[in-house]
This record gives sequence, structure tokens and C-alpha cells, in this order.
Amino acid sequence: MACVVSIINLKGGVGKSTLAMLIAEYLVFKFLKRVLLIDMDAQGNLTYCMVPENDIQKQRKTERTIFHLLKSALEGYSVRINDYITQPPLIISNVERSSLPKNMIPGTLHMVISLPDVAQLDDRLIQLWEENKPIPLGLRQALRQAIEPVKKDYDFVLIDCPPGLSLFSSTALFASDYFVSPVIPEPLSMQGVELVQTRASELNRRGAKIEFRGVILNVVKHYRRTHQRMAKSLYEGEGSEMYHPFKWWVPDSELIRKLGEYDLEWLTPTGRINQFSPKFGSIEGKYGASATPLTNPSDGPLSRGEEEGKHYRLVERLERLVNEFQDRCG
Ligand SMILES: Nc1ncnc2c1ncn2[C@@H]1O[C@H](COP(=O)(O)OP(=O)(O)OP(=O)(O)O)[C@@H](O)[C@H]1O
Ligand SMILES: [Mg+2]
Repeated sequence: MACVVSIINLKGGVGKSTLAMLIAEYLVFKFLKRVLLIDMDAQGNLTYCMVPENDIQKQRKTERTIFHLLKSALEGYSVRINDYITQPPLIISNVERSSLPKNMIPGTLHMVISLPDVAQLDDRLIQLWEENKPIPLGLRQALRQAIEPVKKDYDFVLIDCPPGLSLFSSTALFASDYFVSPVIPEPLSMQGVELVQTRASELNRRGAKIEFRGVILNVVKHYRRTHQRMAKSLYEGEGSEMYHPFKWWVPDSELIRKLGEYDLEWLTPTGRINQFSPKFGSIEGKYGASATPLTNPSDGPLSRGEEEGKHYRLVERLERLVNEFQDRCG
């Protein structure tokens, strides 16, 4: 049975979509898991990272997006996620399955995409309100009900949430067993997590069953004093019990930034049409370039010791992070 995990923080730009992408890809291509990825954000960042433009337009025409699912629910229909999953033969992710060794059959990677249309839902809600019509009570539970029948077909359902607390994030939380929150270790960065925790407790009082499974430190500048201080309080101070930080943090990385901005041109010298050329032959091909090895996190907050301890490259750190994710959320 799949575990449903929301990747959520009230704060924008902390790496929710980036972590959703890389966790999903590692789960599928490294750990051979079956993953359903749901983009709940009207910005569609994750969608554009995972699916070629042509296919996105196909899904729009055939009305298979998270917007259409929620719209249907808003109109009072009962919805099934299968009707909204992108249809084969779609390419989800630019890591190539065909290039994996024959004895490694890659897991499933399916997706429900999002498009800017999602924003129109707010207008519809206001319209109902203006016309004095009731907003369907079950709307927040729509995603949970839609996912239930396919939980047996996946190991993980990952939901990339939008920033802010909206109907979308509540709907995602309601459908989730767990949530994890990416944070950049800077002052005030934990406020967004606290507000999500409060919202989760409220929803739990109304029938949801969501558990917090920790913060993932992201865009970490291990050489910066503010980041070191914040990490110290999270790993060794009061924060450790409350925020339960993942041992494996993600450094500030030019490679990750470029992958998130579809700025892949620098990776291959030849012509390319969209973000899906180039393709990457493997997880190592996508995440293995560049990045100086950093020391083991257990060497202390943000492991400054350059000489001591075991060093890990980015691609290895991410593998360990996703391993930890499976331990916590599996
Ligand atoms: N570890 C990292 N190192 C460097 N850049 C990163 C890292 N993680 C994310 N980024 C970059 O930071 C930016 C924001 O990341 P992302 O879009 O994943 O955040 P988000 O929380 O999903 O944002 P939003 O709230 O707008 O949905 C992107 O340009 C991404 O490429
Ligand atoms: Mg995002």
C-alpha cells in the first residue's frame, strides 16, 4: 500500500518542487519503486521539469490535470485519480529507462500534472459564494477519495504543494499520511513549518490522519555562519525534537539550480529542442556532475571538517537522503 507524502512549506522557493523531482527519480530509478507524483501547484514548476511541453498540451486538451480533477469534485462528482494520470506513452522525467541495466526493471513513475488553469478554481469558489450556493463539503477530501483505490498500485504517492495555505494545500494534506518540509536554514525559516503543523492538527481534528516526518535542510551553505548556527539549533538544540531534521541535508548546488530552471544547455554541447534534450542515461548522469564532496553529516552540524570523516558527492548524498526518506515515510 502506498504511503502518501506531501512536500509542503508555507514559504515559497525553499525547494519543494526540486525535492519532489529528485526524490521521485531516485525512488524510481535507483530504488525501483512505484511512484505517483502529483503537482498541486498552479505554477506547474514540477510539471515542466518532468513532462515535455507537447505532452503537457495533450493533457490540457484531454482534460487530465489536477485542475480538472478538483473542478469535477467542485461540481459534485466523485473523482478517480486514474482518470487524471497522464496517459502513456508519456515521458515522465528525462532519466532514460531504456539505458538501465537489463536486470534492473525500473519502477513506475506516473504523474498528475498541473497547469496555470488551477488558479481559476479560486474564481469558481468565489462565484459559488457570490451566488449563495453551497461549496461542496467534500472538496477537501476529494483527493483522498480519488487516491484510495490506487494506493495498492504504488509504493509512494508524492504531492508537491504550492506555497501558502490554500484549499490546494489543505486538500493535499487531507489526502496524506505524512508530510515533510524543505527549509533553508535561515532566521524565520521555521515559521512556515509551524503554520503547516498547526493546519495539519486542525485537519486531524476533522478526520484527517497526517503525521509530520521532519524538515529537510536545503540550499545549505555549509560555510556560512548563519546556516551553521541554525543547523546547530536544529540538530542539537530545542529544534531537534520539534522539527526532527533529516540527517542528510542538501547543499546549495549550481547543478540542482540549473536542473530546476531547465537550464540544461551547459550539460551538452549539441543542439536541443526543449528541456528533454538532453536525456540523462541514469541518476548518476543527471545528479553526478560537478559538486565537491562534503563530509558526513554526523561529523557535526553541516560537517565543516574538511579533513576528517568520509566525504560524499552530491549524487551519493541524495541517495542517502532518499533512503532516509523511505525509512521515515515508508
Ligand atoms: N539545493 C539547491 N541548490 C541550489 N538551488 C536550489 C536548490 N534547491 C532548489 N534550488 C533552486 O531554488 C529555486 C526554488 O526551488 P523550488 O522551485 O523547488 O522551490 P519551491 O519551494 O517549490 O518554490 P515555490 O514555493 O515557488 O513552489 C529553483 O530555482 C531551484 O532550482
Ligand atoms: Mg514549487
